[in-house]
Amino acid sequence: MSAASFFPQDIIIKKRDGGALTKDEIEFFAHGVVSGKFADYQATALLMAIFLRGMTPQETAWLTDAMMRSGDVIDLRDLPGAKVDKHSTGGVGDKVSLILAPLAAACGVKVPMMSGRGLGHTGGTLDKLEAIPGFRVRLDVPEFRAILQTVGLAMIGQTPQVVPADRKLYALRDVTGTVECIPLICASIMSKKLAEGIDSLVLDVKFGRGAFMKKKEDALALARAMVAVGQAGGKPVWAQLTAMNQPLGRCAGHTTEVIESIECLKGRGPADLMEVTFSLTGHMLVLGGAARDATDARRRMDAAIADGSALRKFREMCAAQGGDPRVVEDYSILPTANRKLDVRADADAQGFVAEVDALRCGHAIMALGGGRAAVTDNVDHAVGLADLIKIGEPVAPGTLLCTLHLNDEAKGAKAEALVRDAIKFTPAPPRPEPLIQDLVR
Ligand code: URA
Repeated sequence: MSAASFFPQDIIIKKRDGGALTKDEIEFFAHGVVSGKFADYQATALLMAIFLRGMTPQETAWLTDAMMRSGDVIDLRDLPGAKVDKHSTGGVGDKVSLILAPLAAACGVKVPMMSGRGLGHTGGTLDKLEAIPGFRVRLDVPEFRAILQTVGLAMIGQTPQVVPADRKLYALRDVTGTVECIPLICASIMSKKLAEGIDSLVLDVKFGRGAFMKKKEDALALARAMVAVGQAGGKPVWAQLTAMNQPLGRCAGHTTEVIESIECLKGRGPADLMEVTFSLTGHMLVLGGAARDATDARRRMDAAIADGSALRKFREMCAAQGGDPRVVEDYSILPTANRKLDVRADADAQGFVAEVDALRCGHAIMALGGGRAAVTDNVDHAVGLADLIKIGEPVAPGTLLCTLHLNDEAKGAKAEALVRDAIKFTPAPPRPEPLIQDLVR
């Protein structure tokens, strides 16, 4: 049956009654939401039917492919070298991309990275990069290609021409209670990643208090769906499952996370952040053929940090994208908050940190003005959390729990209450939870 002869209501009814859609029906839907043949009210009805009835792996693969082809697909085949990207489903303090992309490029793979903005309690890579004075995340495709070719990495926002179907569908899902649906999340993420012209992809699927997916089994199902869709599209995809109960590293915000990322590239990163970064970058190097295995990858990454080549890549990328490259030596050029407020343990505090609730910490950043409730909101890059205590560390009266970077006293007071609420103590050292819990490939 040709796509032109479909009626949206027939497709909606079929899915409403639990049927599996055909490739043509799915293509009609994905292209129809962009052309207007599938009206917004009909698209939301179908999204809800998919939410309630699900999709088979084959339907999910077809939907991903149709969404990917709803706009431009970037072709990087003429650029020499393996093109590998990483995508995280998001969390609090997750600045891995800022460290991983220059590190992977210094080790020999090309990293064409299209990232997103923060929404709700989670931070976004583009917002963090924009804390660097002058940094441009809006590049057109020719400039993106040129920087990728000369520097080996480029980090940009999605262009309006790439996957317009997702732009439309995501906005509809956001306001119709149809976001938390594995086939729809899978198609949304994978259509954008596959349109970037990559050869392979590493995913960091987060689960826990600060993540989009609260339960590990849901994260695993999403990871499996995305790996299967990559396979159907002929691209190797590995998905790591990472716990996101406490913020990653000791900083969250924008300026504070840029500084922590540069410190990581100088070899002074916190253990948990480096563990996740080395693991994901290692997978990229193996997938891209720049390392034989995880051990070889680790040796190369250690060398790139020790000899300064990873930091140099970060500097070169900043310069190529209009950012002030002096940021790697002089953190004072970043937006700076008016005041730093130390949050310390009370006089009766005793024992060890049992919990640092990532969701509450994310809300504290929003309370400071560093988050976004709607995509159009502006963020204050200067505010955030630093020196955050970690689960398992000892506490006594007056122990520093966190330093708030703030620009407004009332907002600071609200954030302090949230941070105090986020941190819980226990008399005995808690059993450490593994950070990296699975790899699907
Ligand atoms: N991120 C996306 O890009 N899409 C989703 O549906 C969810 C998270």
